[in-house]
Amino acid sequence: MTEQTPFALPSRNDKLIEFLKSRRSNLAKSMEEPGPNSEVLEEILTIGTRVPDHRKLAPWRFIVFEGGSRQKIGAHLGSVFKKKNPDMPVDRVIFESERFLRAPVIVGVVSSPVDCVRGTPEWEQRLSSAAVCYNICLAAQAHGYGAQWLTEWYAYDVDILSELGLSEKEQIAGFIYMGTPSLASLPRQRPVLAPLITKY
Ligand SMILES: Cc1cc2nc3c(=O)[nH]c(=O)nc-3n(C[C@H](O)[C@H](O)[C@H](O)COP(=O)(O)O)c2cc1C
Repeated sequence: MTEQTPFALPSRNDKLIEFLKSRRSNLAKSMEEPGPNSEVLEEILTIGTRVPDHRKLAPWRFIVFEGGSRQKIGAHLGSVFKKKNPDMPVDRVIFESERFLRAPVIVGVVSSPVDCVRGTPEWEQRLSSAAVCYNICLAAQAHGYGAQWLTEWYAYDVDILSELGLSEKEQIAGFIYMGTPSLASLPRQRPVLAPLITKY
């Protein structure tokens, strides 16, 4: 189907409603092999990019960590953490250096806003990156994998961002950890809806 062919009108999809009503993230630390292979990951990221994006700017990009690249970034995490926290015990430094080993595949979603000459406010471009993160989580779970959207300290550390090649205007929207969950997620308290709604 090309983008010129009209899509079918929405119809009720009870399975999807049930999935969305009951969805929960999975803990990164409970994720084991296997993670999505390259073919599945491509599909997950393709779904990830199918988000609302004002003026089709695609103001995001991805950094994939799998296999040995998780140890490589982990070594940077350990040394940056140690440099900035010289009093921390060695086991804490080791813990930091092993963060990317918690799951087989991690995707860093980089918010990469385009200059606003074409009029889409940067805020909207950042919001679109959040939609990408969430769509990746949903797509990973729809493919039978666990997913968790994390930022943690290294999403904001200038040395780590420089190691990852982010430009000054770029930010990490999230690191999406994906793998096979070894534990079922427990229920999480959800907000009471009524106080969140006002009628105009
Ligand atoms: C932008 C963003 C960053 C997050 N970063 C973290 C984090 O660093 N550590 C953490 O424990 N949860 C973080 N979370 C929360 C988890 O992704 C997740 O929402 C939480 O574990 C609850 O799971 P749920 O999706 O089942 O509600 C973050 C969420 C968002 C939206």
